[in-house]
Amino acid sequence: MSLPTALEHDLMKRGFTRRSFGRIATLLSAGATLPFYNETALAQISYSGEVPSDAVMINANENPLGPCREALEAMSNILPRGGRYGFGETFRLAETLAAQEGVPSNHVQAFAGSSDPLHRVVLAFSSPSRALVVGDPGYEAGERAANFAGARTIKVPLTKGSYAHDVKAMVKEGGPAAGVFYICNPNNPTGTLTPHADIEWLLANKPEGSIVLLDEAYIHFTTAPRAAGLVAKGKDLVVLRTFSKIYGMAGLRAGVAIARPDLLDRIRPYGTGFLPVTGMVGATASLQSKTLVDERRRIVKDTREEVMSWLTKRGHAPVPSESNCFMVDVRRPGPSFAQAMAREKVYVGRTWPVWPNHVRVTIGTPAEMARFKQAFEKVMA
Ligand SMILES: Cc1ncc(COP(=O)(O)O)c(C=O)c1O
Repeated sequence: MSLPTALEHDLMKRGFTRRSFGRIATLLSAGATLPFYNETALAQISYSGEVPSDAVMINANENPLGPCREALEAMSNILPRGGRYGFGETFRLAETLAAQEGVPSNHVQAFAGSSDPLHRVVLAFSSPSRALVVGDPGYEAGERAANFAGARTIKVPLTKGSYAHDVKAMVKEGGPAAGVFYICNPNNPTGTLTPHADIEWLLANKPEGSIVLLDEAYIHFTTAPRAAGLVAKGKDLVVLRTFSKIYGMAGLRAGVAIARPDLLDRIRPYGTGFLPVTGMVGATASLQSKTLVDERRRIVKDTREEVMSWLTKRGHAPVPSESNCFMVDVRRPGPSFAQAMAREKVYVGRTWPVWPNHVRVTIGTPAEMARFKQAFEKVMA
């Protein structure tokens, strides 16, 4: 496969050599076998072997509630028409979300989940001469895309005390040649927020030619300000949303990138593919539900607060979280704790090298968290 001339010019401008074109062409034609990772793949590499069917899976930030009733109805209604590509459903999703976020509909591009645009943005805006700058601990998918492109990843510790992205340190460490500033808000794995004012500061102070990639995969679990308004103001910003988290559609695949059309054009040469009509109609129906976000935010918050206060009483106060996961210090190497929990058929999340004694725990149903507590007590005894 050879690359389109415009893409070749763009790559040369960004510091790629002709020698790397073959690798990029392979990437573009590889489709589903891209050497990248999403949450499930990252969660799975922490465990090997079969998972028992009655196991509690609180390792991949999934939503045990699944799709809402309206989404289920919309998806079953479209099934008989599954022989058609149904492009209209992709546009309908973009239009519905754009209207809710107050941006023009050409500022929204739908994808099959948000891992896809996350990787594309990193490939489009970082390069061997333009680094990716991330918080640490943070979601690793961008770093893996950067590695593939030969771009450096600069990891900047979260702030002490509030565990926000340290935007000033990110700009300083990134230097004038930074390409992408990745902010996950609230952050995966900590569930902590970066204040809106810090995101505005970053947009105003980042080096020319760079962009901010703001991942709002978990934003619905909080009432913090959303950033689409900054896109509407024309900032160098790509906001990502997914239907895998509060909307409970991880296996059905829907997500969007929200950005100025000229920024979206930069990720289009990497192809947007055909999108599954089930994911598209399910996502649109979920957006139209008037109750889903508030109800689920409350359910997750109640369960999270209950289990976090239980852990705090036992001397294991987790990092304060506003999301559907939290980090807890288990005072031993995280992977060995996780293996011991897995023997109790409770699968917790992974450990980040910067915090070797912490594991990430996803909020499951109250019944699942009861099994988590039982196993935690046994493993800690
Ligand atoms: C921070 C973050 N961004 C993006 C994603 C991508 O999810 P998906 O591709 O399912 O939309 C995830 C998944 O867990 C995530 O944690």
